[in-house]
Amino acid sequence: MIVTTSDLFRLAYGKYAVGAYNINNMEQALGLFQGHIESQAPFIIQISKGARKYSGIPMIEGIIRAAETMYPEAIYAVHLDHGDEATCYSCIDSGFYSSVMIDASHEPFDQNVAITRRVVERAHAKGLSVEAELGMLGGVEEDIKVDEKHAMLTDPDEAKLFVEQSGCDSLAVAVGTSHGAYKFKGQQSLHFDRIEAIQGQLPGYPLVMHGSSSVPQEEVLRINASGGKLDPSACGVNENEFRRAATMGVTKVNIDTDGRLVWTRVHREYFQSKPEEFDFRKPGTIFVAEYAKFIVNKSNKLGSAGELPAVRSALAK
Ligand code: G3H
Ligand code: 13P
Ligand code: ZN
Repeated sequence: MIVTTSDLFRLAYGKYAVGAYNINNMEQALGLFQGHIESQAPFIIQISKGARKYSGIPMIEGIIRAAETMYPEAIYAVHLDHGDEATCYSCIDSGFYSSVMIDASHEPFDQNVAITRRVVERAHAKGLSVEAELGMLGGVEEDIKVDEKHAMLTDPDEAKLFVEQSGCDSLAVAVGTSHGAYKFKGQQSLHFDRIEAIQGQLPGYPLVMHGSSSVPQEEVLRINASGGKLDPSACGVNENEFRRAATMGVTKVNIDTDGRLVWTRVHREYFQSKPEEFDFRKPGTIFVAEYAKFIVNKSNKLGSAGELPAVRSALAK
């Protein structure tokens, strides 16, 4: 059942974080739904501009509609990830999405506010909620001075001002995460002091963490052992920190790269060990099972595992 993102946030806030996963194809959708049924967790499906282009809009939406009939028990929202203004309007007008993200974080503060405000007006008129972004998400390297590190994180006072002026419903904040497989050199912790300070300025307001893949070392090593060439020093976010972040208002955690690593590992290992094979359904079947297993683990780390019955009964009232 597709529900509003704001309903999921209201039920999760302060207790657990909802996992938000990007999908591009049928196999990811199958694993995503199976993993969430198995872990009894609500979730968010994210569609990026790149996914809309790769699959075609009717195809990516059709995959989700088909999954809905195959897994009627699932409860989830459908969200546009990293939208520009035009893509936000296209998704708002389509009637298919629960929420959109307008990403104008590269613009100066006032421009970011103005663009976000326009999207909020169009979205709210149709009952959708809007995620915006403030701050510079990126690798905070260990050799950067403490002052510089903090300058790259979202400023709590600015966050409050931004939310007041733009009217956005949730805010992606820079608190020590980074997109992609190459996030940091060496293990890093989330900046809990900064998350706490932002929550202090925005009590009860849902915060979003992008770039939250953990880039497991074991996955990278298996990919490289089967012919891959990923940088073995790749390091990600410590998933054992998700639950603490959730108690501080982090309500949505975005994960894409880790799922891509599962896909790459499964296919590389399969075809390396069976060079005579060419039936892609065989590794595809393994991938669906492995991706579902991966989702179950993430639901446990996010604290969303087992929450499905409570969400269902709250939404039925
Ligand atoms: O943060 C971006 C997501 O990982 C989506 O990536 O734009 O390549 O689909 P994409
Ligand atoms: P990762 O690259 O860490 O998976 O982040 C995904 C993301 O933020 C999608 O918006
Ligand atoms: Zn992102």
